[in-house]
Amino acid sequence: MLIHSALLALGATIAAAVAPLEAKDNYFVNPKSGNRFQIVGVAYQPGGSAGYKPEQGRDPLSDGDVCLRDAALMQILGVNVIRVYNLDPDLNHDLCASIFNAAGMYMILDVNSPLVGDSLTSYKPWESYYAGYLNRTFAVVEAFKNYPNTLAFFSGNEVLNNVETGGNVPPYMRAVTRDIKNYVSKHSDRPIPVGYSAADVRDVLFDSFEYFQCAEDGDASDPSRVDIFALNSYSWCGDSTYEESGYDKLVEGFSNSSVPIFYSEYGCNTPSPRVFSEVSTIYGPKMTGVFSGGIVYEYAQEANNFGLVTINADGSAQLLNDFYALKDQYSKLNFTDVQGIKSPTSAAPKPPTCSSKLITTKGFANNFTLPSPPPGTQKIIDNGVSPKPVGKIISVASWTVPHPVKNPDGSTLSNLAVKPLADDATNRPGTNTADGTPTTTATGPTASKTNAAGGRPTFGALPALGLGAFAVMAGIAI
Ligand SMILES: *[C@@H]1O[C@H](CO)[C@@H](O)[C@H](O)[C@H]1NC(C)=O
Ligand SMILES: *[C@@H]1O[C@H](CO)[C@@H](O)[C@H](O)[C@H]1NC(C)=O
Ligand SMILES: *[C@@H]1O[C@H](CO)[C@@H](O)[C@H](O)[C@H]1NC(C)=O
Ligand SMILES: *[C@@H]1O[C@H](CO)[C@@H](O)[C@H](O)[C@H]1NC(C)=O
Repeated sequence: MLIHSALLALGATIAAAVAPLEAKDNYFVNPKSGNRFQIVGVAYQPGGSAGYKPEQGRDPLSDGDVCLRDAALMQILGVNVIRVYNLDPDLNHDLCASIFNAAGMYMILDVNSPLVGDSLTSYKPWESYYAGYLNRTFAVVEAFKNYPNTLAFFSGNEVLNNVETGGNVPPYMRAVTRDIKNYVSKHSDRPIPVGYSAADVRDVLFDSFEYFQCAEDGDASDPSRVDIFALNSYSWCGDSTYEESGYDKLVEGFSNSSVPIFYSEYGCNTPSPRVFSEVSTIYGPKMTGVFSGGIVYEYAQEANNFGLVTINADGSAQLLNDFYALKDQYSKLNFTDVQGIKSPTSAAPKPPTCSSKLITTKGFANNFTLPSPPPGTQKIIDNGVSPKPVGKIISVASWTVPHPVKNPDGSTLSNLAVKPLADDATNRPGTNTADGTPTTTATGPTASKTNAAGGRPTFGALPALGLGAFAVMAGIAI
């Protein structure tokens, strides 16, 4: 509250908001434009999962200066979604949520954390399925349900990843999904999709998908079905192809999905540096009918070398070559087309009726009788979490990034700031340039093609990178 009134005193205004999205049939839709929405996302966990320090009052969305820095850089990159894995429902996320909202970015949020008791376990899942754990997941829903840019919740991430865990986990995972969906429908003003983020282990991937998307007795409103299904896939490595990567098999396997499908992580880093040539396929005609885009792993550099940006302890940051490689691939897309696909008018595939016939792998769960909510859970669903963490969009006093940020060559990005977008607008490449002076001479999304002749962009001064064509179009709704 203190922050809020301080900001108001400075005369800041509440920024415009993104339009809340819906999951409908097998795609996301912007109800205002009627267009389908393609996720152009990055996984956001500065410091890695070890960087989650609730006891120090910190999670990835708790420090406004950090969020300003990262939202500005993500605007330059061209993304419209962040995925955040580890959140403490009792911290205040209003400033960060408001910054990402103004920057035209949605948030996909995992309700779990790496701390003991904060997630369903792969081994003996029944031991981790109890009211205290579910209360935490409901508290994350409470903390984020009011933000217009909350896109979805993941009830689990890679909880099952082989046949063995596929034997025990599915009924429990489906039960957690049911409990969270029941909580959302009772306590949220709008339907927020809840789903599962799977490991791309092909032995169990499609059994997992069928187990989670099917409907008891064929009833599509069955609360235990997922609203969305996503997969963490690293099968496209280097300058691969649709067939060589196995993306073709994924499109085939999900072609009849009754729910939106997307990559909740992608970006194989062997070989490194990355070329991100999968981007043109993910957002191209072979995939957009079945997939709704994907989330690149990951924004902040860690020891495992998947990062786009190195973040230093003092808050300063340096862009890595992979940042520009990815940006270059995004800038080759025509986002008017990518985000302009009309919702299909034909009837969507219906969810299959849950039945052991859907499961093909011996040893994978094929019993759809779910555990009941543990003692005490129904009372929390009925009455709500107590005390309730409440989130709201607030004014942002300054859009200027306080931390210095450098290019890969050591030059400094000047005038770095978040560009608040117009109402209902979503970020796309070109909304923000580092020097704050968008040019009008760039020739649009294809401008950087010249950089890509050798498969790699050039890493010169930022204004040379062909940004800007869309800067004047920042107000366009998706
Ligand atoms: C439920 O969650 C809220 C918000 O995090 C917390 O304050 C409360 O203590 C929790 N209650 C139980 C019974 O775990
Ligand atoms: C999708 O549905 C069509 C028509 O019902 C069927 O022929 C095809 O086998 C299905 N594909 C998958 C992967 O289930
Ligand atoms: C399915 O699981 C339930 C609960 O564990 C059990 O009562 C039932 O017998 C199982 N059904 C089959 C066909 O194994
Ligand atoms: C992008 O696509 C739109 C709609 O198809 C088209 O009008 C526009 O010319 C394209 N832009 C570029 C730069 O190719």
